[in-house]
Amino acid sequence: MTSITSVTALARQSLGRVPRFARITPSATVLRSRYATPVRSLQTGLARRSPSSTAAATSLPPATESVPEKAVLPEIQSDEHKVSIRWQDGRVSKFHNKYLFDHCRCAKCFHAATKQRLKQLSEIPSDIQATSVTPSPTGVTITWSTPDAHTSTFPWSFLQSASYDPPLKPLKKSEDKILWNSSIAKSPPIVEYASLVPSATVTEAQAERGVLRWLTKVHDFGFCFVSGVPTTPEDTEALIRRIGNIRETHYGGFWDFTADLKHGDMAYTNEPLPAHTDNTYFTDPSGLQIFHLLSHPPPGKGGASLLVDAFYAASILEALHPTAYATLSRLAVPTHASGSKGTLLRPLAQPVFKHDAVTGELVQVRWNNEDRGVLGKGWRAEDVEAWYDAAAKWEEAVKSADAEYWVQLRPGTMVVIDNWRVMHGRSTFTGERRMCGAYVGHDDWRSRLETLRREFEDKPREEGARQEHEIWSVGW
Ligand SMILES: [Fe+2]
Ligand SMILES: [Zn+2]
Repeated sequence: MTSITSVTALARQSLGRVPRFARITPSATVLRSRYATPVRSLQTGLARRSPSSTAAATSLPPATESVPEKAVLPEIQSDEHKVSIRWQDGRVSKFHNKYLFDHCRCAKCFHAATKQRLKQLSEIPSDIQATSVTPSPTGVTITWSTPDAHTSTFPWSFLQSASYDPPLKPLKKSEDKILWNSSIAKSPPIVEYASLVPSATVTEAQAERGVLRWLTKVHDFGFCFVSGVPTTPEDTEALIRRIGNIRETHYGGFWDFTADLKHGDMAYTNEPLPAHTDNTYFTDPSGLQIFHLLSHPPPGKGGASLLVDAFYAASILEALHPTAYATLSRLAVPTHASGSKGTLLRPLAQPVFKHDAVTGELVQVRWNNEDRGVLGKGWRAEDVEAWYDAAAKWEEAVKSADAEYWVQLRPGTMVVIDNWRVMHGRSTFTGERRMCGAYVGHDDWRSRLETLRREFEDKPREEGARQEHEIWSVGW
């Protein structure tokens, strides 16, 4: 049996939890497999990393917060342009003097409480240089050639992480995303409502840990069910607010609706909806799309929910049709929302696949065929042909039986979807369905997850080290 647990185990084992699917090298296995058993067969393809990432991953020293032995302190040199640090392994990091002075986080340069930079660029002398450099077991103290002989102390861990000439650490990657296909139906990610809210039997801290487990599943899989949710809009809204602020749009904040076409969007009808991401008509689509079926009494029928891991489908497309993948990553597609009176949304046109500017990873899929606008502005004539060819191949990957996960939701089960990654849709239905739900911004839910990780997963530190960590661990 290929349960998602075994898929997960396989993925973790063979991918090392680094499915760098934005740069997959197609393998013979993948090319032969088409869509037959892709999660398993993709292992081979996904496990292949680009030479640069392999080199970066294998040549790194472990990150340390201090360099304990005085005998092996890094050697420091400075000149009118740069400060150079020779590490124990012989590599040399060079930092521009301006860069180091700018990144000083002493009390004059950085507000310890607000974590904000206090120094203006105009306060950095163009000819600034170090007048003395003093290494210690924990870092280096530099005195600068400023009139006040400003001193800065940088922890070694900061200098190792910040090193850009050369980079000492691999660029950050979304290491632990687990791509899935239709086989996830056997064991989908799910958490219990009772574990997420404080009660007579669940403390505030336990409920916070519950939210961490919940959002970690959303991060790993791109969606997560919550079972045992009271079937009232009030309880559903309160649960959503455990994640963060609800994002208001022209549909309102928290929604509670039936198929009455109250708003000019197909979501408010009983038409079938093909897999799509929401808010392609926003420059910044909502990060989470959350919904809860409150009631659908007999004789009402239908309305099965469809989920598709768009990152998985994109990985298939890139493996089989790299040119199509590149086309959808390059050409900006205009989108709009024009069906509600008083609303005419025309976001910045963006490609279907958006990548992190630094790491090159796929970070967002934008796909809603219904909301697509007029193509071709700024394109070359041959781009039109290329886009239709690529979009047809993409749709084939998204609509394959392998990619589609169909589930019949019942009242009491809420679903949280990473709208930048997982597409949703539904089949047609009859009768009266009452749905409620909300959007949460991408940065907001990522922030909630990160703060919970730091609260519950960071190693304990003594007070001084904790304060230093708080100052130097932000802004990355
Ligand atoms: Fe939708
Ligand atoms: Zn300073």
